[in-house]
Amino acid sequence: IAASEAAALLLPWYDRHHRDLPWRVSPPMARQGIVADPYHVWLSEVMLQQTTVQAVKAYFDKFLRLWPTVEDLASAETEDVMKAWAGLGYYARARNLKKCAEAVSREHGGRFPDTEERLKALPGIGDYTAAAVAAIAFNRRSAVLDGNVERVISRLYAIEAPLPAAKPRMRQLIAELTPAERPGDFAQAMMDLGATICTPKRPACSLCPFRPKCLALHNADPETFPRKAAK
Ligand code: ADE
Repeated sequence: IAASEAAALLLPWYDRHHRDLPWRVSPPMARQGIVADPYHVWLSEVMLQQTTVQAVKAYFDKFLRLWPTVEDLASAETEDVMKAWAGLGYYARARNLKKCAEAVSREHGGRFPDTEERLKALPGIGDYTAAAVAAIAFNRRSAVLDGNVERVISRLYAIEAPLPAAKPRMRQLIAELTPAERPGDFAQAMMDLGATICTPKRPACSLCPFRPKCLALHNADPETFPRKAAK
């Protein structure tokens, strides 16, 4: 599939079928270049790294009620943050969350930096979160690769190499496919597609916007991708 075709197939699907999630701005607004609040995007992405979208919604709302801005979170008591986090697991994440809020407050005047590189310099922000915030909040053409996206890419290109060997190739492919226009919507569309259509078991290929271009669908069995490494 050519880079220009991927966005042309995926974004119209996203406009019709995207999930309404509290940290998103609606696609028509995103199209006009209106970006999402970086604090909201960051908070949701950190929470989503270990928990499903459905479970995260309530925690996301609670955190914003308690700490409406990143500066509020920075000046919160660590103990209160840990308490609010209870149930999400991976408590190191909550500690890092607080540290990151402090760094944004102290070192950046309460405003998240707007490049992947400077985001990555913050506590607890790795490759994935930096790319997600840069793309979704700042409309940067950052390539966002999580487990859902890896599955979609592995099927679209029928990648025979198993993970993690296939990762560099997947990085390269998602970087090429990510469009200059609406990169944040593209990233979220890939994640929604992976979560709702291109699922690990019994993918709903008949509903997939990539159907005409998916190599796994046309040449093999999509469910068998990504390939598993021999144990
Ligand atoms: N999983 C992690 N981040 C996501 C997002 N922004 N949209 C949908 N699924 C996600």
